[in-house]
Amino acid sequence: MSQVDSVGVLGAGLMGAGIAQVAAVAGYRTVCRDVSQDALAKAQASIAKSLARFVEKGNLNAADRDAALRHLTFTDDLDAVAHTSLVIEAVTEDLAVKNTLFTDLNVRSPHRTVFASNTSSLTIGAMAVASNRPDRFVGLHFFNPVPLMPLVEVVRGVTTSESTMSAAMEFVQRLGKVPIEARDTSGFIVNLLLVPYLLDAVRALERGAGTVTDIDRGMKLGCGYPMGPFTLLDFVGLDTTMRIGEIMFEEYRETRYAPPPLLKRMVLAGWLGRKSGRGFYDYSQDPPRAMG
Ligand code: 3HC
Repeated sequence: MSQVDSVGVLGAGLMGAGIAQVAAVAGYRTVCRDVSQDALAKAQASIAKSLARFVEKGNLNAADRDAALRHLTFTDDLDAVAHTSLVIEAVTEDLAVKNTLFTDLNVRSPHRTVFASNTSSLTIGAMAVASNRPDRFVGLHFFNPVPLMPLVEVVRGVTTSESTMSAAMEFVQRLGKVPIEARDTSGFIVNLLLVPYLLDAVRALERGAGTVTDIDRGMKLGCGYPMGPFTLLDFVGLDTTMRIGEIMFEEYRETRYAPPPLLKRMVLAGWLGRKSGRGFYDYSQDPPRAMG
């Protein structure tokens, strides 16, 4: 694979917007594509807000912020993304949806374009085949909030070529982030360890080990985690965590990955965490109030 000189991002949700932001700040011409105009408008606003915070804190100068904004385009046109040199997919965690996009994109993109997926639990191999460019397919797993979290897992599928891997590692470094290489197993490195921990916190709550507040305090103050597990679950999204757990359970058939009943009930109730205003905490209150 030749050098990355432009970036296409599929999906303008939380992760897609964050990825587009860091690519634009690093100086890449960046195209962010979503089918929803509403999602595009929200992404544009959240990027502007995040960049303003960096400027306010003195971590980015105003000229660099303006340059980053000039590098960014928001569109619903798939062809605009197809002609970038690296396309990073960050749409919903659904293999059929992702593969339909990759199949469609493959016929529109030049041979040299590399495809990447920000999947958190699906395997790269399952998408590499559908993309019809298995050697030029790699996993790039970012962490939320993307502008702040320094890590990116670079996932080597069985068919990923050496040149694709090295270009992906170099791209991550140019973003100012730290790459770690992960094998193509569901959950890669971080979610393999993080997801059972989050699900165990829900099981501890179900068993009455402690309250939401005390379990969060325990892990924050006792172990130095920046957020307790319930604050983090609300931050990541209960539906997202449930979906990741289901995919990992399907892969490993180990109960540690199985979403506990309480999590499923909360998702059914529409309590998805911060994004819906309510999860393990109620965000209509200030400070947010833990469920009782
Ligand atoms: N853009 C720019 N600046 C931001 C920002 C954003 N999106 N969000 C927060 N900030 C800034 C704030 O302005 C603040 O700046 P200051 O320190 O100079 O005042 C600073 O970042 C810290 O923010 P807060 O005071 O609001 O909150 P915290 O001190 O708690 O830090 C955090 C926020 C960095 C998110 C920290 O709580 C943290 O590291 N949490 C854990 C996050 C985590 O584990 N993420 C991984 C989730 S798993 C995942 O993504 C994988 C997926 O597959 C599930």
